[in-house]
Amino acid sequence: MRLTVQKSEGLSGRIKVPGDKSISHRALLLGAIAEGSTRVRNFLPAADCLATLACVRALGVEVERGSETELIVQGRGLRGLMESKGVLDCAGSGTTMRLLAGILAGQPFYSVLTGNEQLRRRPMGRIAEPLRQMGATVLGRDDGRLPPLAILGGNLHGIEYWLPVASAQVKSAILLAGLFADGPTVVHEPGPARDHTERMLAAMGASIEVQSSKLEVQSSWLSSLDIVVPGDISSAAYFIAAACLVTGSEVVIENVGVNPTRTGLLDALREMGVDIRVENQREASGEPVADLVVRAGRLRGVEVSGDQVPRMIDEFPILAVVASQAEGTTVVSEAAELRVKETDRIANSAVELRKLGAWIEECPDGFVVEGPTPLVGTQVNSHGDHRLAMALAIAGLIAAGETTIEDAECIADSFPGFERILGTLMS
Ligand code: S3P
Repeated sequence: MRLTVQKSEGLSGRIKVPGDKSISHRALLLGAIAEGSTRVRNFLPAADCLATLACVRALGVEVERGSETELIVQGRGLRGLMESKGVLDCAGSGTTMRLLAGILAGQPFYSVLTGNEQLRRRPMGRIAEPLRQMGATVLGRDDGRLPPLAILGGNLHGIEYWLPVASAQVKSAILLAGLFADGPTVVHEPGPARDHTERMLAAMGASIEVQSSKLEVQSSWLSSLDIVVPGDISSAAYFIAAACLVTGSEVVIENVGVNPTRTGLLDALREMGVDIRVENQREASGEPVADLVVRAGRLRGVEVSGDQVPRMIDEFPILAVVASQAEGTTVVSEAAELRVKETDRIANSAVELRKLGAWIEECPDGFVVEGPTPLVGTQVNSHGDHRLAMALAIAGLIAAGETTIEDAECIADSFPGFERILGTLMS
């Protein structure tokens, strides 16, 4: 599918974005192993989360779907999952594969996890290694590092583990396995990766302690929960950026999750000079939520590194677009993780944004952008990466003439309805 975007004269309106992807996955996975029924509202019906839904159903969990965005998960408790008759297909979703692997490591049966071509290239040694240390058998291609993964679980024991990268997927896999282990499981984080798993586990009554970068979980039953998923800040990011970039814009995005482990982009944009107001702060199901008001203005370059990187790990393609319109130099470093996302987001963002006229250079662990440079619409390619496809669409709003994004169907991996919502801001 191709998406065509014309230069915009100004964006305005109040919008809502769909439910948070990370929280939607966790609601299904934790709901599946909780006692009783977990009700989920504002679930994200995107391809990635639907892969998780299909996997938990294959493991014997009943999930009623009242509507696209409303689910009731009939939890089977820690010991109630059943061996799947077939291979578990995680499609393109790293979160599905890594978090599910943590749960399956605790099950006394055999599971095979696979995914599409993109996912089968992504590193799984980072979860296989600690899960093996806990006592699970985890096999994979390339000496156990690449999917498909075969897991034979059960009889786990707790470990103390220092994460080599700040990854929420890896820490979550270990914490979930820890629910099935004898003795405590301790995880040390090198940086602040999103903490939705810890929050949901605590809300479900698990025995979990968090002391800054040290997390400790003990085997414990989970009680069911009523979960209202906040809007996804990683989806809101495209409209926040659009409002900063298109002269004369003012956009309100309602009901956005503003968990501090996810708000690195807001900090970066404020440092660039953007006026972002956070209004109506409240809490929903243990997560902070707010309305965001964003206005276009002058932008200057910014430096992003260290702890800020995991706090905006999915927002670098769109940051690169904003940086192309900022006065001066933007430098992103200590972000080599971007090379093992759905695609290599450093290389692909650089290649595609250059086609539009941006000045962007790759570094091994990030990129440098010099701005401002005028963009000119042309044909660009998403490389099958939803975040790059949406970042390029926003670039199209400020590029002269028309921008065509090839292979844009991947947007549905995280954000069904992106085009429609963008359209409401333009009319
Ligand atoms: C996610 C964690 C991040 C993020 C991904 C979702 C999660 O990945 O990039 O989109 O839901 O835990 P890493 O854990 O690999 O950083």
